[in-house]
Amino acid sequence: MRSDVVLRRLDQDLLTDLLHAAVEDADPLEVMPPVEGPDGWTAERRAAFVRFHRTRTLAADPVEITYAIVVAGRVAGAARLFPMEPAGTAEAGVWIGRSHRGTGVGGAVLELLLAEARDEGFTSVYVSTEPQNAAVRALMARKGVTLVPDADALIAYVDLTAEAR
Ligand SMILES: CC(C)(COP(=O)(O)OP(=O)(O)OC[C@H]1O[C@@H](n2cnc3c(N)ncnc32)[C@H](O)[C@@H]1OP(=O)(O)O)[C@@H](O)C(=O)NCCC(=O)NCCS
Repeated sequence: MRSDVVLRRLDQDLLTDLLHAAVEDADPLEVMPPVEGPDGWTAERRAAFVRFHRTRTLAADPVEITYAIVVAGRVAGAARLFPMEPAGTAEAGVWIGRSHRGTGVGGAVLELLLAEARDEGFTSVYVSTEPQNAAVRALMARKGVTLVPDADALIAYVDLTAEAR
């Protein structure tokens, strides 16, 4: 596993770096919910990206935990844990900038994010992806986790209690 990848809890300074990484190295639809308007990183989308993380993670009463993915000292993407039903489960969300994909960062992030989830007291992590997402399919296969069809998606619950044994 790559040793130059770390997760850092998002704060205001890291959010500024994260916006920069997103604008430079990712498509808006890969990193945030859709925003009306012309394609690309419009002023509205940049503002919506910052608002998204401020309201969900940096607020006094956050609804999820977000980590900046730092590769060799530079912010390269984000990983999120969103508490969901059943209790003890967190949905995982990850995006990595294009220039870093396919170089082992995702594999390192998966291990680090599962460890963070365990430390936060979660017992299970929910993963949902599109069937055409070969990287997520490969990551799950390497972990020995079976993705199953659910409507238009492929989903899995990674059992953290089994991992800890
Ligand atoms: C999905 C994502 C997080 C994976 O991260 P990554 O750094 O590219 O992944 P890695 O380099 O660690 O590769 C993981 C595995 O996927 C494989 N892989 C990576 N990119 C691939 C591609 N485009 N096609 C096929 N396999 C691919 C690698 O070979 C590796 O397989 P292995 O373990 O058998 O060697 C990243 O590609 C990404 O951010 N994509 C855009 C957003 C996204 O899809 N998020 C996930 C939503 S559920």
